[in-house]
Amino acid sequence: MTYDFDQIIDRRQSESSKWNQYDADVLPLPVADMDFVSPEPVIRALRERVEHGVFGYGTMMPEFYDVILAHLNTRYGWEVPAEAIVMLPGVITGFNLACRAVARPGEGLLQQMPLYPPMLRAPSNIGLQAHMTSLTQLANGYCTIDFDAFEAAIQPHTRIFMLCNPHNPVGRVFQRHELERMAEICLRHDLYICADEIHCDILFDGHGHVPIATLDAAVANRTVTLMAPSKTYNLAGLHCAFAIIPNAALRERFIAQRLDLVHRTVNILGYILQRRPPTAMAKPGWIRCCVICKRTGMWSRRMLNRICRG
Ligand SMILES: Cc1ncc(COP(=O)(O)O)c(C=O)c1O
Repeated sequence: MTYDFDQIIDRRQSESSKWNQYDADVLPLPVADMDFVSPEPVIRALRERVEHGVFGYGTMMPEFYDVILAHLNTRYGWEVPAEAIVMLPGVITGFNLACRAVARPGEGLLQQMPLYPPMLRAPSNIGLQAHMTSLTQLANGYCTIDFDAFEAAIQPHTRIFMLCNPHNPVGRVFQRHELERMAEICLRHDLYICADEIHCDILFDGHGHVPIATLDAAVANRTVTLMAPSKTYNLAGLHCAFAIIPNAALRERFIAQRLDLVHRTVNILGYILQRRPPTAMAKPGWIRCCVICKRTGMWSRRMLNRICRG
Protein backbone atom coordinates (compact mmCIF):
# COMPACT_ATOMS: atom_id res chain seq x y z
CA MET A 1 0.00 0.00 0.00
CA THR A 2 1.34 3.46 -0.85
CA TYR A 3 0.17 6.54 0.98
CA ASP A 4 -0.93 9.62 -0.89
CA PHE A 5 0.52 12.64 0.87
CA ASP A 6 -0.54 14.89 -2.02
CA GLN A 7 -4.24 14.44 -1.44
CA ILE A 8 -5.84 17.66 -0.19
CA ILE A 9 -8.86 17.11 2.02
CA ASP A 10 -11.23 19.97 2.69
CA ARG A 11 -11.61 19.76 6.45
CA ARG A 12 -13.58 23.02 6.71
CA GLN A 13 -16.62 20.98 5.76
CA SER A 14 -15.96 18.65 8.69
CA GLU A 15 -16.13 19.39 12.41
CA SER A 16 -12.36 20.08 12.54
CA SER A 17 -11.71 22.56 15.34
CA LYS A 18 -8.61 24.09 13.75
CA TRP A 19 -10.23 24.57 10.33
CA ASN A 20 -13.34 26.22 11.74
CA GLN A 21 -11.61 28.61 14.10
CA TYR A 22 -10.46 31.29 11.66
CA ASP A 23 -11.55 33.14 8.50
CA ALA A 24 -11.37 31.29 5.19
CA ASP A 25 -8.17 33.08 4.07
CA VAL A 26 -6.20 31.94 7.13
CA LEU A 27 -4.02 28.85 7.03
CA PRO A 28 -4.62 27.48 10.53
CA LEU A 29 -1.52 26.08 12.21
CA PRO A 30 -2.42 26.45 15.89
CA VAL A 31 -2.13 22.81 16.87
CA ALA A 32 -0.41 19.55 15.97
CA ASP A 33 -3.31 18.19 13.95
CA MET A 34 -2.27 16.75 10.59
CA ASP A 35 -4.32 17.06 7.42
CA PHE A 36 -3.27 13.67 6.06
CA VAL A 37 -5.64 10.74 5.98
CA SER A 38 -4.78 8.34 8.82
CA PRO A 39 -2.94 5.21 7.75
CA GLU A 40 -5.06 2.54 6.09
CA PRO A 41 -4.71 -0.09 8.90
CA VAL A 42 -6.09 2.49 11.33
CA ILE A 43 -9.12 3.15 9.17
CA ARG A 44 -9.70 -0.58 8.64
CA ALA A 45 -9.55 -1.28 12.39
CA LEU A 46 -12.06 1.48 13.08
CA ARG A 47 -14.35 0.26 10.31
CA GLU A 48 -14.29 -3.29 11.72
CA ARG A 49 -15.10 -2.03 15.20
CA VAL A 50 -17.93 0.14 13.91
CA GLU A 51 -19.38 -2.84 12.06
CA HIS A 52 -19.52 -4.71 15.37
CA GLY A 53 -22.32 -2.28 16.01
CA VAL A 54 -22.40 -2.22 19.83
CA PHE A 55 -20.81 0.76 21.55
CA GLY A 56 -21.26 0.19 25.26
CA TYR A 57 -18.76 1.21 27.95
CA GLY A 58 -15.29 -0.13 27.33
CA THR A 59 -12.46 -1.40 29.51
CA MET A 60 -8.81 -2.37 29.06
CA MET A 61 -8.25 -6.02 28.18
CA PRO A 62 -4.94 -7.82 28.93
CA GLU A 63 -3.67 -7.42 25.35
CA PHE A 64 -3.76 -3.65 25.76
CA TYR A 65 -1.10 -3.85 28.48
CA ASP A 66 0.90 -6.46 26.53
CA VAL A 67 1.16 -4.14 23.53
CA ILE A 68 2.18 -1.06 25.52
CA LEU A 69 4.70 -2.94 27.67
CA ALA A 70 6.24 -4.60 24.61
CA HIS A 71 6.47 -1.23 22.87
CA LEU A 72 8.17 0.46 25.84
CA ASN A 73 10.57 -2.44 26.14
CA THR A 74 11.44 -2.71 22.44
CA ARG A 75 11.71 1.00 21.77
CA TYR A 76 13.32 2.21 25.01
CA GLY A 77 14.45 -0.91 26.88
CA TRP A 78 12.00 0.25 29.57
CA GLU A 79 10.46 -2.51 31.69
CA VAL A 80 7.39 -1.54 33.66
CA PRO A 81 4.68 -3.68 35.23
CA ALA A 82 1.21 -3.66 33.67
CA GLU A 83 -0.27 -1.92 36.69
CA ALA A 84 1.98 1.12 36.01
CA ILE A 85 -0.15 1.98 32.96
CA VAL A 86 -3.17 4.23 33.47
CA MET A 87 -5.44 4.87 30.49
CA LEU A 88 -6.46 8.50 29.95
CA PRO A 89 -8.69 10.46 27.58
CA GLY A 90 -5.78 12.77 26.81
CA VAL A 91 -2.35 13.99 27.80
CA ILE A 92 -3.75 17.35 28.91
CA THR A 93 -5.94 15.50 31.39
CA GLY A 94 -2.82 13.60 32.47
CA PHE A 95 -0.67 16.59 33.30
CA ASN A 96 -3.49 18.28 35.19
CA LEU A 97 -4.06 15.10 37.23
CA ALA A 98 -0.32 14.79 37.92
CA CYS A 99 -0.17 18.35 39.28
CA ARG A 100 -3.22 17.78 41.46
CA ALA A 101 -1.73 14.53 42.74
CA VAL A 102 1.44 16.07 44.14
CA ALA A 103 0.80 19.76 44.79
CA ARG A 104 -1.67 21.64 46.92
CA PRO A 105 -3.09 25.09 46.11
CA GLY A 106 -0.44 27.74 46.76
CA GLU A 107 2.44 25.40 45.99
CA GLY A 108 4.50 25.69 42.83
CA LEU A 109 4.99 24.13 39.43
CA LEU A 110 8.26 24.54 37.49
CA GLN A 111 7.78 25.31 33.81
CA GLN A 112 10.29 25.71 31.01
CA MET A 113 9.29 28.61 28.75
CA PRO A 114 8.10 29.02 26.05
CA LEU A 115 5.51 26.31 26.54
CA TYR A 116 2.50 24.59 24.98
CA PRO A 117 -0.47 26.78 26.12
CA PRO A 118 -2.52 24.09 27.95
CA MET A 119 0.57 23.44 30.08
CA LEU A 120 0.69 27.12 30.90
CA ARG A 121 -2.92 26.94 32.07
CA ALA A 122 -2.32 24.01 34.43
CA PRO A 123 -1.16 26.11 37.43
CA SER A 124 -4.24 28.34 37.41
CA ASN A 125 -6.54 25.33 36.94
CA ILE A 126 -5.34 24.04 40.28
CA GLY A 127 -4.40 27.22 42.15
CA LEU A 128 -0.65 26.60 41.85
CA GLN A 129 2.05 29.20 41.36
CA ALA A 130 3.93 29.02 38.06
CA HIS A 131 7.68 29.04 38.71
CA MET A 132 9.17 29.76 35.33
CA THR A 133 12.54 29.22 33.78
CA SER A 134 13.34 29.97 30.14
CA LEU A 135 15.15 28.03 27.50
CA THR A 136 18.02 30.03 26.03
CA GLN A 137 17.72 30.68 22.31
CA LEU A 138 21.03 30.90 20.44
CA ALA A 139 21.54 33.14 17.40
CA ASN A 140 20.81 30.20 15.07
CA GLY A 141 17.48 29.57 16.83
CA TYR A 142 18.62 26.43 18.66
CA CYS A 143 17.42 26.32 22.27
CA THR A 144 19.55 25.19 25.18
CA ILE A 145 19.01 24.86 28.90
CA ASP A 146 20.63 27.26 31.35
CA PHE A 147 20.86 24.83 34.26
CA ASP A 148 21.71 27.55 36.78
CA ALA A 149 18.57 29.47 35.82
CA PHE A 150 16.61 26.20 35.87
CA GLU A 151 17.68 25.52 39.45
CA ALA A 152 17.28 29.14 40.54
CA ALA A 153 13.60 29.05 39.50
CA ILE A 154 12.89 26.32 42.06
CA GLN A 155 11.47 27.65 45.31
CA PRO A 156 11.01 25.86 48.65
CA HIS A 157 7.37 25.14 47.81
CA THR A 158 7.91 24.04 44.18
CA ARG A 159 6.57 20.50 43.97
CA ILE A 160 6.70 19.39 40.36
CA PHE A 161 8.55 20.09 37.12
CA MET A 162 6.50 19.89 33.95
CA LEU A 163 8.82 18.59 31.26
CA CYS A 164 7.78 18.69 27.62
CA ASN A 165 10.06 16.41 25.57
CA PRO A 166 10.19 16.62 22.60
CA HIS A 167 9.54 20.22 23.47
CA ASN A 168 6.51 22.05 22.13
CA PRO A 169 6.93 24.70 20.79
CA VAL A 170 10.71 24.83 20.31
CA GLY A 171 10.99 21.31 18.86
CA ARG A 172 14.03 20.27 20.89
CA VAL A 173 14.53 16.56 21.55
CA PHE A 174 16.46 16.74 24.80
CA GLN A 175 19.60 14.66 24.96
CA ARG A 176 20.38 12.18 27.69
CA HIS A 177 22.93 14.44 29.41
CA GLU A 178 20.40 17.30 29.49
CA LEU A 179 17.71 15.05 30.95
CA GLU A 180 20.16 13.70 33.51
CA ARG A 181 21.07 17.18 34.65
CA MET A 182 17.42 18.32 34.91
CA ALA A 183 16.46 15.11 36.73
CA GLU A 184 19.37 15.43 39.15
CA ILE A 185 18.32 18.99 40.04
CA CYS A 186 14.66 17.98 40.43
CA LEU A 187 15.46 15.06 42.69
CA ARG A 188 17.85 17.12 44.80
CA HIS A 189 14.98 19.56 45.40
CA ASP A 190 12.44 16.75 46.02
CA LEU A 191 10.41 17.62 42.94
CA TYR A 192 8.20 15.24 41.05
CA ILE A 193 8.45 15.26 37.26
CA CYS A 194 5.55 15.15 34.87
CA ALA A 195 6.93 14.31 31.42
CA ASP A 196 4.69 15.07 28.46
CA GLU A 197 6.27 12.89 25.76
CA ILE A 198 3.37 12.94 23.31
CA HIS A 199 5.60 13.85 20.34
CA CYS A 200 8.19 11.12 21.03
CA ASP A 201 7.57 9.19 17.80
CA ILE A 202 7.90 12.10 15.39
CA LEU A 203 11.61 12.89 15.30
CA PHE A 204 13.91 14.21 12.62
CA ASP A 205 16.68 11.88 11.50
CA GLY A 206 19.62 11.66 13.86
CA HIS A 207 17.56 12.09 17.02
CA GLY A 208 16.53 9.49 19.58
CA HIS A 209 13.91 9.92 22.28
CA VAL A 210 14.92 9.08 25.86
CA PRO A 211 11.98 8.89 28.28
CA ILE A 212 13.26 10.72 31.35
CA ALA A 213 11.91 7.95 33.60
CA THR A 214 14.32 5.48 31.99
CA LEU A 215 17.37 7.32 33.38
CA ASP A 216 17.30 5.36 36.61
CA ALA A 217 14.97 3.92 39.25
CA ALA A 218 15.07 7.03 41.43
CA VAL A 219 13.87 9.23 38.55
CA ALA A 220 11.21 6.67 37.53
CA ASN A 221 9.97 6.72 41.11
CA ARG A 222 9.26 10.47 40.97
CA THR A 223 7.92 10.62 37.42
CA VAL A 224 4.56 10.52 35.67
CA THR A 225 5.19 9.94 31.95
CA LEU A 226 2.46 10.74 29.44
CA MET A 227 2.31 9.25 25.95
CA ALA A 228 -0.30 8.71 23.26
CA PRO A 229 -0.61 7.43 19.69
CA SER A 230 -2.62 10.52 18.74
CA LYS A 231 0.09 12.76 17.28
CA THR A 232 1.88 9.94 15.50
CA TYR A 233 -1.13 8.57 13.64
CA ASN A 234 -3.39 11.62 13.68
CA LEU A 235 -5.99 10.31 16.13
CA ALA A 236 -6.39 13.36 18.38
CA GLY A 237 -10.18 13.41 18.07
CA LEU A 238 -10.37 9.86 19.43
CA HIS A 239 -9.06 10.92 22.82
CA CYS A 240 -6.75 8.17 23.86
CA ALA A 241 -3.55 8.45 25.88
CA PHE A 242 -1.89 6.78 28.82
CA ALA A 243 0.27 7.52 31.83
CA ILE A 244 3.18 5.39 32.98
CA ILE A 245 3.59 5.62 36.75
CA PRO A 246 5.81 2.87 38.19
CA ASN A 247 5.61 4.24 41.77
CA ALA A 248 2.47 2.65 43.27
CA ALA A 249 1.87 5.37 45.87
CA LEU A 250 2.20 8.14 43.30
CA ARG A 251 -0.06 6.21 40.93
CA GLU A 252 -2.74 5.89 43.61
CA ARG A 253 -2.64 9.63 44.23
CA PHE A 254 -2.87 10.27 40.48
CA ILE A 255 -5.82 7.89 40.04
CA ALA A 256 -7.58 9.34 43.08
CA GLN A 257 -7.59 12.76 41.40
CA ARG A 258 -9.75 11.47 38.57
CA LEU A 259 -12.77 11.53 40.92
CA ASP A 260 -15.69 11.15 38.56
CA LEU A 261 -14.54 14.10 36.48
CA VAL A 262 -12.47 11.80 34.27
CA HIS A 263 -14.34 8.74 33.11
CA ARG A 264 -12.82 5.42 34.18
CA THR A 265 -14.13 3.63 31.11
CA VAL A 266 -12.37 4.09 27.79
CA ASN A 267 -13.29 5.60 24.45
CA ILE A 268 -13.67 2.31 22.62
CA LEU A 269 -12.57 3.59 19.22
CA GLY A 270 -9.45 5.18 20.66
CA TYR A 271 -8.88 2.06 22.73
CA ILE A 272 -8.96 -0.41 19.85
CA LEU A 273 -6.24 1.62 18.14
CA GLN A 274 -4.19 2.10 21.25
CA ARG A 275 -4.03 -1.65 21.83
CA ARG A 276 -2.52 -2.22 18.36
CA PRO A 277 1.25 -2.61 18.09
CA PRO A 278 2.90 0.24 16.12
CA THR A 279 3.74 -2.20 13.33
CA ALA A 280 -0.01 -2.75 12.83
CA MET A 281 -0.78 0.97 12.71
CA ALA A 282 1.16 1.97 9.61
CA LYS A 283 4.12 1.05 7.49
CA PRO A 284 7.29 2.66 8.92
CA GLY A 285 7.43 4.96 5.87
CA TRP A 286 4.25 6.68 6.99
CA ILE A 287 5.78 8.43 9.98
CA ARG A 288 8.87 9.29 7.96
CA CYS A 289 6.78 10.92 5.24
CA CYS A 290 4.93 12.98 7.85
CA VAL A 291 8.25 14.12 9.28
CA ILE A 292 9.57 15.07 5.85
CA CYS A 293 6.40 17.02 5.01
CA LYS A 294 6.68 18.89 8.31
CA ARG A 295 10.40 19.52 8.04
CA THR A 296 10.31 20.90 4.53
CA GLY A 297 7.17 22.95 5.08
CA MET A 298 5.92 21.24 1.91
CA TRP A 299 2.46 20.63 3.21
CA SER A 300 1.88 24.13 4.58
CA ARG A 301 3.11 25.68 1.31
CA ARG A 302 0.73 23.53 -0.68
CA MET A 303 -2.21 24.40 1.58
CA LEU A 304 -1.27 28.07 1.43
CA ASN A 305 -1.26 28.00 -2.38
CA ARG A 306 -4.66 26.43 -2.33
CA ILE A 307 -6.07 29.09 0.01
CA CYS A 308 -4.49 31.89 -2.06
CA ARG A 309 -6.04 30.48 -5.22
CA GLY A 310 -9.40 30.58 -3.40
C1 LIG B 1 2.97 18.89 23.97
C2 LIG B 1 1.54 18.50 23.81
N1 LIG B 1 0.91 17.86 24.83
C3 LIG B 1 -0.39 17.49 24.74
C4 LIG B 1 -1.12 17.74 23.60
C5 LIG B 1 -2.57 17.35 23.54
O1 LIG B 1 -2.76 16.10 24.10
P1 LIG B 1 -4.20 15.44 24.21
O2 LIG B 1 -4.98 15.81 23.01
O3 LIG B 1 -3.91 13.98 24.33
O4 LIG B 1 -4.80 15.97 25.48
C6 LIG B 1 -0.52 18.40 22.52
C7 LIG B 1 -1.27 18.70 21.28
O5 LIG B 1 -0.85 19.38 20.40
C8 LIG B 1 0.84 18.77 22.62
O6 LIG B 1 1.48 19.39 21.61
